[in-house]
Amino acid sequence: MTEQEHLTHRGAISQHVQALPASGIRRFFDLIANTDDIISLGVGEPDFVTPPAISAAAVKSIDEGFTHYTSNYGLPELRQLISTHLHKRYGVEYDPSTEIIITTGVSEAINLAMLAIVDRGDEVIGPDPSYVAYLPTVLLAGGTYVPVPTTPANDFKMKAEDIEELITPKTKAIFFGYPCNPTGAIMERKDLLAVADVAKRHNLFVISDEIYDRLVYGTEHTCFSSLPDMKDRTLLMGGFSKAYAMTGWRVGYTCGRVDLTEAMMRVHQYITMSAPTAAQYAGLEAMRNGEEDVRGMVKEYDRRRKMMVKELNDMGLTCFEPRGAFYCFPSVSITGMSDETFSETLLMEEKVAVVPGSAFGQFGVGHVRICYAADYDDLVEAAKRMRRFVERHTTSE
Ligand SMILES: Cc1ncc(COP(=O)(O)O)c(C=O)c1O
Repeated sequence: MTEQEHLTHRGAISQHVQALPASGIRRFFDLIANTDDIISLGVGEPDFVTPPAISAAAVKSIDEGFTHYTSNYGLPELRQLISTHLHKRYGVEYDPSTEIIITTGVSEAINLAMLAIVDRGDEVIGPDPSYVAYLPTVLLAGGTYVPVPTTPANDFKMKAEDIEELITPKTKAIFFGYPCNPTGAIMERKDLLAVADVAKRHNLFVISDEIYDRLVYGTEHTCFSSLPDMKDRTLLMGGFSKAYAMTGWRVGYTCGRVDLTEAMMRVHQYITMSAPTAAQYAGLEAMRNGEEDVRGMVKEYDRRRKMMVKELNDMGLTCFEPRGAFYCFPSVSITGMSDETFSETLLMEEKVAVVPGSAFGQFGVGHVRICYAADYDDLVEAAKRMRRFVERHTTSE
């Protein structure tokens, strides 16, 4: 018996990890990695490089010898700036010394939240389609993710009455992220107030992933914890990856009441101890002076968004108007193909990479996610190739 067979025989891989669904996105990225010359609208990250002043601040911190761990909670100045920023922008107040943790991206924040809140057998209600990490992190914490269908008919919003129907004695929390990855949907204040009412009446916790809060078009973002009576019921998660083009730095944050922050800290201190120090210095500079950069990038995303939505609808891939994040989520039903076949055939025939909607949940079936955080000319070329592809595959039906 080889060493590997021996390990397999003993069940080397834990059952809870074996039970995790394989990521539909990862399989697709493996395909992309093996194809040359593609226009990739697959990866959900800004094409922009981090603004130079932000990178320079991190380099300076390294040069000056700030290369050690920070407080487990993160740099006090950064927590203070986040607190001031949230207060100024949304009117919600968090104590930087007891209610904020700087995390290794919102990815870590999501895991901390689930591990701190979910007990074995608990149910967490969240949107479908949704960001790929939501369901697996609930599973890893021993809970069950209960999907709320969201569809183009309701602008991919999570409706309060649909949430309420799914509540059982096991429901612990409502978990969502708007603006939404993969649909680009937003929830307006009135929609969120209705969710807040359900949370209050059923005494549920709300976990709100607001990583895309700055990326909204022609509308204002509402911070869930700023709604009346919601601060103590909400765990707010935010980050630097999307707004400041800082995906590689790995820095984000959680804001929540003291007992919850303490609980998450117990997990955080054993998992990562503290977020990367240089990245926290980069975050400091972003908070201090990054506003103009954010506005410039948002303006450019909006230009691309308008062009892409129009192109998609013109070529017959019906697409509701996304008003947040940087994704379009059109239906591919006109081609008669499944979303997976559409994405794979488009990649092979026209070298354009998009992600099958089914990777984001059962209600993503029949759609594809297109990330328009890509060079404008590349988007124009991708749209040209997609139009050619759709024409070819709809006339041959
Ligand atoms: C909705 C959502 N939440 C969280 C993340 C993870 O962000 P971070 O880079 O801060 O870990 C992403 C990344 O794509 C996302 O789309």
